[in-house]
Amino acid sequence: MAHYLPRSSLVLAQILSMFIPLVVASPDPAAMTYNVVSLGAKADGTTDSTQAFVSAWTKACGSTNPAMIYVPVGRFYLRQVVFNGPCNNNAIIMSIAGTLVAPSDYKVLGNTANWLVFEHVDGVTISGGILDAQGTALWACKASGNTCPAGATTLEFSNSNNIVVSALSSLNSQMFHIVVNGCQNVKMQGIRVTADGNSPNTDGIHVQLSSSVTILDSKIKTGDDCISIGPGTTNLWVENVECGPGHGISIGSLGKDQQEAGVQNVTVKTVTFTDTQNGVRIKSWGRPSNGFARNILFQHAIMMNVQNPIVIDQNYCPDNKGCPGQISGVKISDVTYQDIHGTSATEIAMKFDCSSGNPCSNIKLEDVKLTYNNQAAQASCNHAAGISTGFVQPTSCL
Ligand SMILES: *[C@@H]1O[C@H](CO)[C@@H](O)[C@H](O)[C@H]1NC(C)=O
Repeated sequence: MAHYLPRSSLVLAQILSMFIPLVVASPDPAAMTYNVVSLGAKADGTTDSTQAFVSAWTKACGSTNPAMIYVPVGRFYLRQVVFNGPCNNNAIIMSIAGTLVAPSDYKVLGNTANWLVFEHVDGVTISGGILDAQGTALWACKASGNTCPAGATTLEFSNSNNIVVSALSSLNSQMFHIVVNGCQNVKMQGIRVTADGNSPNTDGIHVQLSSSVTILDSKIKTGDDCISIGPGTTNLWVENVECGPGHGISIGSLGKDQQEAGVQNVTVKTVTFTDTQNGVRIKSWGRPSNGFARNILFQHAIMMNVQNPIVIDQNYCPDNKGCPGQISGVKISDVTYQDIHGTSATEIAMKFDCSSGNPCSNIKLEDVKLTYNNQAAQASCNHAAGISTGFVQPTSCL
């Protein structure tokens, strides 16, 4: 990935090695590995290891060479950890063989927005590991109607570039599992998200104000959106994802703010939705905004008993406040649905409920087959224009 040696020193090393072979050896790679246990972490699941992780990060981030933080097998109890940059190198790998465990008492993280957060970093890879946020007590509190803290996002990357996350599992997050905010060039592969289908606000992966984010080969079971795509997301690629239970893959909610960055160039392909509330959804508030969503491709999706397989809803307005005339300012255009098959759990499998002030334009349907109770499902359109080609069932209402 990154070049961490200045080119001049590489050339110098090559020249020197011609004359004095073996003297200019590369440094011992072990010297740049920081094992959290050597720094005082305990793998017993109860001893607070926060300080050991902070020490490991301080050393890795301060290193002028590439560095590795190693977390061995075992359970490591951590309060909030902020992995802050900028760092002195742009090649830090956190290799996790074990499990990081959040406090089971939700009052410890309380209203802290995040549990594990990387900020202002460049070139960080997280490989492996389980993040166990122990969110069940907070969900129960929220379900009881008592006053509870909002809860923390499990893992957030904020204002960072060149991030890789692979083979990571996130379990029972208090709030969102993974958030990508204000980042460029993020690749996530082999992510597993697991939480109860009734757990509140436990979105799997949320992306906003970010570009060139790729999410591949992941399985997400949770209580809210499997993937949610917020304002300011551009060049997002999602491929080979299994979603369910959950609320599907959503662009939105958009248009909450009057001034809002748009969503552009999003590809969602080869996804399976099982028993989800939605399949592929675009959702905006019914209120004034300069936001938009355009150049969106939903391709090769399988719907299995999905309540709203294809849906655009521009009338979102919880509590019916601040939505004059329910007219969304968000402009939705150039959205393609290609090769979408399967079963709907409701009669209306395809719903385009667009803004009366800003109708959806250039919606394209190609090779869609959605059934309800072994019969053709139905479609409903409001203020939506576009075309359909190939076999399209339910019959298009565009
Ligand atoms: C759209 O995004 C993809 C990555 O998801 C990128 O490869 C492509 O260049 C982008 N297209 C445009 C026109 O920016």
